[in-house]
Amino acid sequence: MNKEEIDKKLKDLRLPNVLQFLDGNSVTNITEWKKRREEIKQILVKEEYGSIILKPHVPISFETIKEDDKYCGAKFIYKEVNITLHFENDNYTFPIKLSIPKENHPLKTFLYLSFYTEFPNQYLPVEEICDRGFAVVQLCYTDITSDDGDFKNGISKIFFKDEKSRDFGKISIWSWVASHVMDYLNEIAEIDKNNIAIVGHSRLGKTALLTSAFDNRFKVVFSNDAGQSGDSLSRGKTGEHIKEICDRFPYWFTPQYYNYINKEENLPFDQHFLLSLTAPRNLYVASASDNIWADPKSQFLALIATNPIYKLYNLQGLVSDNKLPNIGEQLKDGKIGYHIRKGWHYLSRFDWNMFMEYFQNL
Ligand code: GCU
Repeated sequence: MNKEEIDKKLKDLRLPNVLQFLDGNSVTNITEWKKRREEIKQILVKEEYGSIILKPHVPISFETIKEDDKYCGAKFIYKEVNITLHFENDNYTFPIKLSIPKENHPLKTFLYLSFYTEFPNQYLPVEEICDRGFAVVQLCYTDITSDDGDFKNGISKIFFKDEKSRDFGKISIWSWVASHVMDYLNEIAEIDKNNIAIVGHSRLGKTALLTSAFDNRFKVVFSNDAGQSGDSLSRGKTGEHIKEICDRFPYWFTPQYYNYINKEENLPFDQHFLLSLTAPRNLYVASASDNIWADPKSQFLALIATNPIYKLYNLQGLVSDNKLPNIGEQLKDGKIGYHIRKGWHYLSRFDWNMFMEYFQNL
């Protein structure tokens, strides 16, 4: 795709204009954009992810339950910490795991949203990451609440009354809790609170994007293969659509989202609205060449559609020749980063190397 083809493609998709207020007025400067951001948040809350992500944070407390200063040949300190969220009439405690290199504090840090409790695991090469001088923190999403339609377990039971009145999905719950881990990380001397990245793969890439969108303390978000309802435009997408995702994972979203099944053209937003909330901070999306389900082309177009916000800030967003890069190549010169890796849906060492390279240079 060259520039003309991309422009035409985006025009044909008739995307809602991220830089236009609901009353029709255009956003022409940063002050107006800050107001428009609030509108966009409300749209995403109401139509897609639900209310939890907008809830004010509750106080936290934390307790180190395990510490090992001999971790990885004594290069790093390993810690397991229990974080407790204090509600008015309830508490919720969940664990996180950390590996912190012993030198050069405070450190750039990855907050990794994990499918697994094991640390390291197939998606998280802890030693390699820390060898490059980063601290890494893992939050396992099922320690927050289960990945299914049961809202009566984990933290979600605190919010859930009944299915009829449910106005949120699990992604917003996972995100809201991840944002509380940021509260904790802000208190840790070894961690550079101005240099914390959030990373997630697939459903957890969607979660990472939402977290960064609503919590601007994250310096950068790395979204790997997030696809439908994450980093791909819904309009004109191949592979998974709103129908398929809502058939299999209705509980990820607020029920209002089901109204757009087979009606993508009626969405008052598209996924570039979500991505644009991270601007002017750094946004990084990764694709895999054979991941038709997530649709790399749609991910790429979503980034191009996010560029105007960076332009408003006089910054370069995605610096590309307006065509998908070659497989294995990284677009890294702007505030938006991107690569496409060979292969399937996966979070690989290759992806991590690209993320570390990009983060190291910020
Ligand atoms: C399914 C789902 C995707 C999701 C993926 C994952 O394939 O359809 O939307 O990203 O699971 O989380 O692994």
